[in-house]
Amino acid sequence: MEHIALPKGYQEFYGEYAQPLLNAIEYVLAEIELLSQRCIAETGRDPIENVRYRIKSPESMSEKLIEHSLDVTAENAVCMVHDAAGVRIITSFLDDIEFVSEKLKEITGLKLVREKNYITSPKENGYRSYHLIFEIQNVYIEVQLRTVAMDTWAAADHRILYKKLSPDSSYIAQELKRCAEELARIDTTLQQLVSVYLSQ
Ligand code: GTP
Ligand code: MG
Repeated sequence: MEHIALPKGYQEFYGEYAQPLLNAIEYVLAEIELLSQRCIAETGRDPIENVRYRIKSPESMSEKLIEHSLDVTAENAVCMVHDAAGVRIITSFLDDIEFVSEKLKEITGLKLVREKNYITSPKENGYRSYHLIFEIQNVYIEVQLRTVAMDTWAAADHRILYKKLSPDSSYIAQELKRCAEELARIDTTLQQLVSVYLSQ
């Protein structure tokens, strides 16, 4: 796999932690690639549709540190915040999330420090995803797993509301929540259809 390049300004911001963050992402990406290959070899299907990753931008990390009343330092960015490094895994179906997350938890180099299941417990606004925070060589990495439907919803939410408006009962927030619930029903139905079909 090719090495990931750092955008301009990130090295200065993250200093000695920049390389460990990149290493963490590369390690997780390599493990995901292995998992995909193994699944394709064994079942003929890849449970992973798409993988994205990022290091949190210096601007967005500074905002988050200030929000949490922390000094804007590289050390706080990496030790006090858990998503300086982030990987997002998109799956077709609900069961793939469980399968992939279980496989990630078995990887010896990754120490699970936190998990948040926003699928069984969606956020008030309708946000759904499964978040795993791992520690690897003194840095943290947040892995988010979601279906294509959840990802589409999160993209819409991000563009419209996330961190911009208060979560009031405005029409748009209500409509977004309704979309999240409809999409969740569709995810469940598609999963049932596929499972029933496969068991025949
Ligand atoms: P931040 O939300 O990043 O300040 O972290 P947190 O400690 O509150 O963790 P949380 O699990 O709530 O969110 C972590 C990440 O999940 C965020 O950085 C987003 O990528 C994603 N996320 C959480 N909530 C939402 C949401 O309501 N909408 C969207 N689009 N993404 C969300
Ligand atoms: Mg949050």
